Amino acid sequence: MRIRAVGEKDLSELARVDAEVFPTAPYPLFVLRQHFDIFGDHLLVVEDDESRLRGYVLASPPYRALSWIVSLGVTPELRRNGLGRRLMVQMLNKLRSEGAQRILLTVEPDNGSAILLYRTLGFVALGAPDPEYFGPGEPRLLMTLTL
Ligand SMILES: CC(C)(COP(=O)(O)OP(=O)(O)OC[C@H]1O[C@@H](n2cnc3c(N)ncnc32)[C@H](O)[C@@H]1OP(=O)(O)O)[C@@H](O)C(=O)NCCC(=O)NCCS
Repeated sequence: MRIRAVGEKDLSELARVDAEVFPTAPYPLFVLRQHFDIFGDHLLVVEDDESRLRGYVLASPPYRALSWIVSLGVTPELRRNGLGRRLMVQMLNKLRSEGAQRILLTVEPDNGSAILLYRTLGFVALGAPDPEYFGPGEPRLLMTLTL
């Protein structure tokens, strides 16, 4: 497994991985395309030995020293192998080198594995979950990390 920058030819594979990781709410292709166009240099992918993508992390470039982790995922069969942590550490190092001093992200309050990962990276919750952060029935917990 290697982590590398995304390329335009990866878009269809990226859409497949995103749908595997987030089966109930994958990004429409036009959203992924725009993420790639706007933030492509802040999108890292996991590639296996057969050149298939197995995960990705997407962040916003630092603006006023603040970045967001927009999305993070690893395909189900490869979880608990350290890939999510590797993706996050690599992206956080990149953001730090670009001047980010603070990172924000949102996570579903019952997503224990993601919250544990973020906590072990030093993220802390910003207050209580917002019960309608993404609309009715879509609560999110905001977490922040000071670099
Ligand atoms: C969250 C996610 C990216 C973690 O990726 P991963 O490759 O499985 O994570 P890692 O193997 O690097 O694990 C890192 C740490 O996260 C925590 N963790 C991850 N999965 C866990 C689980 N099922 N149970 C408990 N802790 C877990 C542990 O602290 C782990 O460290 P450890 O292995 O030293 O105990 C992955 O589960 C995923 O893609 N989930 C679906 C999409 C998602 O929820 N994305 C986050 C949206 S905010």
